[in-house]
Amino acid sequence: MISSSKVYERVADRVLDLIEKGVYPAGRRLPSVRTLGRSMRVSINTVLAAYAWLERRGRLEARPRSGYFVRVHPVGSLPSPASLKVNPVPVTVHKLVQEIVRVTSNPKLIPLGSATVDPRLLPLARLNRILSSVARRDPVAAHSYADPAGLKTLRIQIARWTAESGADFRPDELVITSGAQEALHLALEAVCRPNDPVAVEVPVYYGILQAIESLRLRAIEIPADASEGINLNALRIVLKQRRPRAVVVIPTCNNPLGSSMPEDKKRKLVRMLAQEQVPLIEDDTSGNLHFDSVRPPPAKAFDTQGLVLYCSSISKVLSPGWRLGWMACGRFRSEVEHLKTFRTSANPTAPQMALAEYLEEGTFGRHLSSLRKIHAGQVDLMSRAIGRSFPVGTQISSPSGGFQLWVELPPRVNALQLYRLALQSGITTVPGPVFSARGRFRNYVRLSAGRWTEQEGDAISSLGRLVRLMRSGSSVKLPANPRSGSRRPQ
Ligand SMILES: Cc1ncc(COP(=O)(O)O)c(C=O)c1O
Repeated sequence: MISSSKVYERVADRVLDLIEKGVYPAGRRLPSVRTLGRSMRVSINTVLAAYAWLERRGRLEARPRSGYFVRVHPVGSLPSPASLKVNPVPVTVHKLVQEIVRVTSNPKLIPLGSATVDPRLLPLARLNRILSSVARRDPVAAHSYADPAGLKTLRIQIARWTAESGADFRPDELVITSGAQEALHLALEAVCRPNDPVAVEVPVYYGILQAIESLRLRAIEIPADASEGINLNALRIVLKQRRPRAVVVIPTCNNPLGSSMPEDKKRKLVRMLAQEQVPLIEDDTSGNLHFDSVRPPPAKAFDTQGLVLYCSSISKVLSPGWRLGWMACGRFRSEVEHLKTFRTSANPTAPQMALAEYLEEGTFGRHLSSLRKIHAGQVDLMSRAIGRSFPVGTQISSPSGGFQLWVELPPRVNALQLYRLALQSGITTVPGPVFSARGRFRNYVRLSAGRWTEQEGDAISSLGRLVRLMRSGSSVKLPANPRSGSRRPQ
């Protein structure tokens, strides 16, 4: 028996061929090293070399004491299918997004389409106790109008907290908003006028598209990849040819890609836009949910000219319902504060008082670190479940944080059709086309691992069955509902 590089490549090719033909579908255990060596008449070392090669390319996964398993592709190889089209286009995603958001909030459905964290992972009892205690202690203040920019005590706490991420915010620079969604809307409104072109990375979080649509702006889509985010060369071309009025990105723990731009790339992005004097709107809603040992700095940390409008919130880490977010608006602060005053006067006061007190208490860091660990585990479990149930041709992101998975389905599978079929089985998903102004990503889906129980595991198996049927082109007979068989959206 010989062991040379050529031989291990031949073995790897043979294994790949068997995977492509569906003999070993995603999630299936491959033959043991000994068995494959015997059948191909090569040494164990050659098979080990072939398996290691395939593992490095993300086709296999070695599980301790269990063997080698076929896996869906790793994120790094998930290509950006969006080619650059520099023309700005109007956005019309709102109707479909509204339908999806309404359906997804139905608690009877299995929330694979949800963008929220499992409430059991949030310190809700503690937050509720603080809320009632601040209202009891200071009932008049709790019922008074707050400063339009937000309570000073809260802005001080947020500035202290975010200092740990490497961004130095002065409390005076911050404006408290109704979640990150209002922050994004105010940021766009402060720097753009109707019909202006705005550059966004694609896939782009649909809430950003909704803000663009409601302000009657037009979107230019810049391709992004699943590991390092927006393509800076493409952005450079768009800056030269179309001069967008603003650029919107989610550089850390991107939704839906899960990508995080390396620090140096964030620095380059800020510098490139500063040279052209184009404002950068940074959505950092999930930056605190990174899986790294150290909190990656936001792009705002590299802003020397006040051109970055930073937006964040507590919706993914503490309470989506308190609707508390904030902005650091640099040179646009007074415009943003005016707009905030015209729109809503100020945020409700009592939750601001309670959040300030919670942040001062000092347990937030511990809570975040446990949330990150749990999410990393849940994301891993969901990825493996997809690997076991979905057909070959499926590719899946490997997020750097957060709890969303971006899944490329085989080309024949229409994600919008999958969304409707899955709904009839009581499962929510978010179809790819809502992440693009041009309706791209028709065979992509975003799945959320924000909650992971046996129910979600069963739901992934059901989705996998649907995807396999759709891929084969056979008429789809609905699988039984993973739980009751009768769940239907209202
Ligand atoms: C990337 C991103 N930005 C903004 C938002 C809106 O957040 P909020 O609920 O704080 O308005 C979300 C919510 O899902 C999000 O995922």
